[in-house]
Amino acid sequence: MNSGLEDVIAAETVLSDVDGANGRLVIRGISLDELVTTSSYEEMVGLLFDGFLTVSHDLPRALGDARVEVFGHAATADAELVALSPVDGLRALMARLGDGEDIGTALRLVAAPAVFTPALLRLRLGLEPIAPDFSLGHAQDTLRMLTGTIPTKEQASALNRYLVTVVDHGLNASTFAARVVASTQAGLTSSVLAGLSALKGPLHGGAPGPVLDMLDGVGTLQDAPAWLDDALARGERLMGFGHRVYRVRDPRADALKGAVRMLSASGAIEPGRLALAEAVEQAALDLLKRKKPDRPLETNVEFYTALLLEALGFPRDAFTCVFAMGRVSGWIAHAREQALGGRLIRPKSVYVGPVPKVAA
Ligand code: ACO
Repeated sequence: MNSGLEDVIAAETVLSDVDGANGRLVIRGISLDELVTTSSYEEMVGLLFDGFLTVSHDLPRALGDARVEVFGHAATADAELVALSPVDGLRALMARLGDGEDIGTALRLVAAPAVFTPALLRLRLGLEPIAPDFSLGHAQDTLRMLTGTIPTKEQASALNRYLVTVVDHGLNASTFAARVVASTQAGLTSSVLAGLSALKGPLHGGAPGPVLDMLDGVGTLQDAPAWLDDALARGERLMGFGHRVYRVRDPRADALKGAVRMLSASGAIEPGRLALAEAVEQAALDLLKRKKPDRPLETNVEFYTALLLEALGFPRDAFTCVFAMGRVSGWIAHAREQALGGRLIRPKSVYVGPVPKVAA
């Protein structure tokens, strides 16, 4: 048996198609390349929810209202909750939202990571959380709640592009977890909490923080090849490289590299930081080609995510929370698709343990 379930088809979906051989991602019939240049995150929510939830004609306003509605829960974060890692704190706060299958529950869940993440980060620093402004765009308001100032056009646009880029991605581990829970008819909050719990692992959405640790470890451009070589020799994985489905470059890596270059041109990223990242990327790709010739290992979504979220002021231990801000609407759409059309997911296992003794 294959414990990673590669090649097992476990769902039919109209939501997204990951073409690993050609490095293409299509969301509801539209290619990611097009979506990242044309769509707001709110439009992506509408696109994914269409046919699964009754969406208001003014979705940006409805989502803004949902941000305001969930903000009250941030006040319930006690010292113990604030001391958790940001993703564990986010999960604990989101667990306070009631379950349901309606658009109100769905929008509160979409709003929650965008509101709770900045609130938890500010509370950790001893600062007051900043209330949402329903009239702003989702990405713009998130950054304002983090820093207390209206972000530049480039910053808001970079976060928007990130959220659009990661919004949905076939039957990845967190989406599968969300669909398994949805198949029991448990409700959207339960599905989203399952998705978030799967996302936090370093083999899935927990990689971008370690990408920055790697850049710090490398230190200078010249040291990159030797440092990476040593890391591989110690049996470590190079964070931000490799993917279960893509055998060529992850199309999301270039979508985000574009946003990082845009931020760099606006002065939000030091030129030296970007040059170091590009040198590390090239050195890692060369090394992986030499050391793992049988397995195509290319840059994945997490590599440039790390630079982008760092430049926007998110601390590295909160990067997974920002991933969840984007992916949450994918989880919800998949959960609805599963609950409406799918059956209870209940695969079989093969027993390989001891057998009962037969009496002589
Ligand atoms: N660095 C070094 N070697 C790697 C890497 C890597 N990043 N990724 C895979 N390999 C090697 C493995 O060591 C293995 O080699 P071996 O056959 O010589 O033992 C081979 O490639 C196959 O590895 P698997 O673990 O079977 O591949 P899998 O499809 O399960 O891995 C994964 C996918 C988990 C993403 C892996 O590439 C990895 O660990 N990458 C680093 C972490 C990372 O970047 N995670 C984010 C992924 S993107 C996302 O989920 C949003």
